[in-house]
Amino acid sequence: MKKTYLFIPVLMFMLMACSNGQKLAVNTLKDAYKDKFLIGTALNNKQYTGQDTKSVAVIKQHFNSVVAENCMKSEQIQPQEGKFYFDQADLFVDFGLKNNMHIVGHTLIWHSQIPQWFFADADGKEVSREVLTERMRNHIHTVVKRYKGKIKGWDVVNEAILDDGSFRQSKFFQILGEDYIRLAFQFAHEADPDAELYYNDYSMAHAGKRMGTVNMVRKLQQQGVKIDGIGMQGHMTMDFPTVTEFEKSIIAFAELGVKVMITEMDISVLPFPNPNVGADIANTAEYKHSLNPYSDGLPKEIYERWHQRYTDFFRLFLKHQDKISRVTLWGLSDADTWKNDWPIKGRTDYPLLFDRNVEPKPLVQALINEVSVVKNKEMVAKIK
Ligand code: GLA
Repeated sequence: MKKTYLFIPVLMFMLMACSNGQKLAVNTLKDAYKDKFLIGTALNNKQYTGQDTKSVAVIKQHFNSVVAENCMKSEQIQPQEGKFYFDQADLFVDFGLKNNMHIVGHTLIWHSQIPQWFFADADGKEVSREVLTERMRNHIHTVVKRYKGKIKGWDVVNEAILDDGSFRQSKFFQILGEDYIRLAFQFAHEADPDAELYYNDYSMAHAGKRMGTVNMVRKLQQQGVKIDGIGMQGHMTMDFPTVTEFEKSIIAFAELGVKVMITEMDISVLPFPNPNVGADIANTAEYKHSLNPYSDGLPKEIYERWHQRYTDFFRLFLKHQDKISRVTLWGLSDADTWKNDWPIKGRTDYPLLFDRNVEPKPLVQALINEVSVVKNKEMVAKIK
């Protein structure tokens, strides 16, 4: 009992130290989260080739998992039928192996960034079920077998479901129906029986998409298909999603008995363009500025709201650490984020943990400290 009396104030002091932003012994993300979940980042070409030395040093310091931002997409790997280009993907995988990282392959079957030959015959007409199935088999087998034993998990199918829970009317769906999903998982499993296989999608906090994903995965499981995890991309804005809705999806997916992963996290501070604005307004300098308001720097109060939002989500991830196997950021620094060019080209966004000079934002230390706060709370709870 005496021991407890002494221990609790010491822990309380540590807790306070953390919340005041002071550094504790552990000062990298991957070390702080090592007993919780993997911390990943998406790599671009300048990083896995080693050209961007500053970023490479930061990646090695803070991350223990990597995913290919673009170099494994079908338009890059097989731009023409039967012509596979693996030079970039090989460099990406070598980077991960050399640095002893958990490597994720992204992505095998996706309606976007896919070459159009996939769906067309020599006359440009849509291919039959049989031809498309064979093309999927060949693509998946060739890519997955090449990295057998090196890539730990694959985003097998990306973005098959819409926000209302219905299937996206992609070419894959139009030609093969929802069975293309089962086939993709089956081919990936044949190619590397030990690799983990994931379904990955955005806006997973929408109730419709949650339900659609649960139904789809359950059906695959009933058909005996191996599916190991669900990736929640985590491209967020300042308003979407709410922590509450996101949490419901984490719980619903975990109840299927699969791993849950946050696979492409970034929180944009920029507004979405209003699709209903007419050209007369859209072309005014005022409207343009309203869509790119922080090109000269991010105001402190916006940073603070953004910082808090990330913190809230990491608290949620820590709360569900038993369900979550990996949290991956979609890139390292604001200099390279895709959000600077999507959905509008040439904006200045601030969605990642490292700034344009690849310096850590205060958030990095805050997220490191969050783990200690949680650990200390767990210890206090045990003593009590
Ligand atoms: C989706 C894809 C990613 C990437 C992002 C935007 O989320 O899964 O590969 O293309 O869009 O960069």
